[in-house]
Amino acid sequence: MSISAPELRLRKRRNGASPIVMVTAYDEPGARYADAAGVDMLLVGDSVANVVLGHSDTLHISVEEMCHHVRAVAAAKPNAHIVADMPWMSYHINDRESVRNAASLIRAGAHSVKLEGGSVRRDVIRAVLDAEIPVMGHIGLTPQSVLALGGFKVQGKTLDAAKLLMEDALVLQETGVFSMVIEAVPPIVGTQITQALDIPTVGIGAGPDTDGQVLVFHDLLGLTNRKPAKFVRQYADIGKAITDAVAQYASDVRNGSFPSESEVYANPGELLN
Ligand code: KIV
Repeated sequence: MSISAPELRLRKRRNGASPIVMVTAYDEPGARYADAAGVDMLLVGDSVANVVLGHSDTLHISVEEMCHHVRAVAAAKPNAHIVADMPWMSYHINDRESVRNAASLIRAGAHSVKLEGGSVRRDVIRAVLDAEIPVMGHIGLTPQSVLALGGFKVQGKTLDAAKLLMEDALVLQETGVFSMVIEAVPPIVGTQITQALDIPTVGIGAGPDTDGQVLVFHDLLGLTNRKPAKFVRQYADIGKAITDAVAQYASDVRNGSFPSESEVYANPGELLN
């Protein structure tokens, strides 16, 4: 049995819990490698639109496409909890459609869904929770709002904006989310929201005091060509390792050293006569 939403709901650092480690995953190998590293949560993020499908934002991905990636991640049968992003326009039309879309992600293999926005999402979150589907919130920089926000910008930089974020966080908690992502806010905002809540927060660019951290798999591993955000720590240069390995393969093919004798099947004796 994978880590459940109720178990994650209890992971408050101030109560002695260890920080929640979350990383995005979009396919079976990525999920398998991350799970083997012992992460708590795999987020099938709509960031797949950016980092895998080559779009410049997360607005160009459908529920069906997200389900395709959730199925691949679930095929790894991870111990980690799988949370799937509800993509843009999958929870904005009406509650019935939103619940149906959340259910599709669950049937594809997710254990919970995540959706972006604060108090404005109260009703849709209630509807999804009524269908027995655990919900994770996401406040601060909400990438699906990129057009409305005028870019990917740090949020909560003024007292008024920080107060609104705090109100949103309290409403989400009161509505029943089991945890929430806080993205791209000054550390003091991440700290104060985390202190005000009884549910765990998972930060990305929200400072060191949230109850967990999340990074995008491709950023962490050096697999993107975009300028990393300030909050990214790159732990490996797998992109360079891939290019070096494929260049070596190309060179071996061209100079005739691949395949070698050990890389071919034995010729059957009767064919040699
Ligand atoms: O889609 C995603 O990768 C996310 C993270 C940035 C939290 O929502």
